[in-house]
Amino acid sequence: MSVESTETNPLRALSPQDLRAHAAEALTRARERSVALTDVDDEDLVRQHSKLMSPLVWDLAHIGSQEELWLVRDVGGREALRPDIDDIYDAFQHARADRPELPLLGPEEARKYVREVREKSFDILEKVPLQGRRLTEDAFAFGMITQHEQQHDETMLATHQLRKGDPVLHAPAPPPSRSGRLPAEVFVPGGAFTMGTSAEPWALDNERPAHEVAVEAFFIDTTPVTCGAYAEFLDSGGYEDPKWWSERGWAYRSEHGIHAPRFWSREQDGWWRTRFGVHEKVPAAEPVVHVSFHEAEAYAAWAGRRLPTEPEWEKAARFDPATGRSRRFPWGDEGPTPEHANLGQRHLRPAEVGAYPAGVSPLGVHQLIGDVWEWTSSGFEAYPGFAAFPYKEYSEVFFGGDYRILRGGSFGTDAAAIRGTFRNWDHPIRRQIFSGFRCARDARPGEVA
Ligand code: AVJ
Ligand code: FE
Repeated sequence: MSVESTETNPLRALSPQDLRAHAAEALTRARERSVALTDVDDEDLVRQHSKLMSPLVWDLAHIGSQEELWLVRDVGGREALRPDIDDIYDAFQHARADRPELPLLGPEEARKYVREVREKSFDILEKVPLQGRRLTEDAFAFGMITQHEQQHDETMLATHQLRKGDPVLHAPAPPPSRSGRLPAEVFVPGGAFTMGTSAEPWALDNERPAHEVAVEAFFIDTTPVTCGAYAEFLDSGGYEDPKWWSERGWAYRSEHGIHAPRFWSREQDGWWRTRFGVHEKVPAAEPVVHVSFHEAEAYAAWAGRRLPTEPEWEKAARFDPATGRSRRFPWGDEGPTPEHANLGQRHLRPAEVGAYPAGVSPLGVHQLIGDVWEWTSSGFEAYPGFAAFPYKEYSEVFFGGDYRILRGGSFGTDAAAIRGTFRNWDHPIRRQIFSGFRCARDARPGEVA
């Protein structure tokens, strides 16, 4: 299924020199973040803060190991620096829970290793032809490795959130709401739209190719579900009534004693939470974060609604009814600026709903990018025409597994690692990630906005 291309590739306008500079800058920004997230005591770096996570020192050397594999060995054709550690940092060889027992590089060794790999990568980026090979076309491999590092930076941020003790990360508060009173929901017309991409230069394999998908008319929430709205579900006994929960969700909630979003606790004057070591009152106007798919689904049922499907989410985010084309981002084809979305760990929390009017989609949907990852009701499947590239272990081996798709990125996601087509996935029970959601509903026959 191919579609006539109305897509733009923002890197095609760059000279080879500017393309190299663009890739170098993206790699450098990722590294600055990795360094900040691993700027903790050695003891903190090697400790496993949760069975769900690797020690930070594993993430750090794994970032270097992937970079060595793809940029130094494959793209650069250079000799291996550390063939002896390939196995230790292969995520498929060792479960997260087992990683502390491995003979990991120590803090100083790991820092030295990633520095040495990076020096070689920069040398290769200066010299390698960026044409003639799909891996280097548009500097793709450098973009892929940048995104890999940024993805692990978000994972490391989630490790910090699980870490006990006094805060070590600090950031200014996000902007407050700047939108006044917003309508609760937005009408999305039925019909076909272009989903996925064939032109986005650094899109990963699972986002490809662009293809037409038809959706029925539906309504979607203008903003993610807030903590205030979620607390109403809690306070009305929503976690004690199986009628809102799927069978699996209820079993999960019962088995794990789940009674509120992760990191929430009930105090005398209402709900509180712990956020990167700070104990604070739950802010009513912020999107709820740290909920599993099962909790999101239960809330939606209680609200008389449902979660959007993945195509619905993408149509709400990218479809421009004036032109019929799909945009790279809700606000247009330009990349995110701090005015558009809460990304990049600039703030260590979601922003109030209404805080990003400049990021609104053509149909009027807010905060689709940034703040919180949004659960959809869809599983992780290949698009028609999918081809694994450059390796099956990024996406293909996960297709059809017990996962739900999350969209849009969070405050912990970097701009380099998010776009309107980006697909994330996780197990429906996971909630240590920066996951929230918004609801949707079918349009009734004849109903228009
Ligand atoms: C796309 C976020 C599901 O972190 O598990 C990192 C990304 N793949 N290293 C993950 C990834 C290999 C992946 N997610
Ligand atoms: Fe990885």
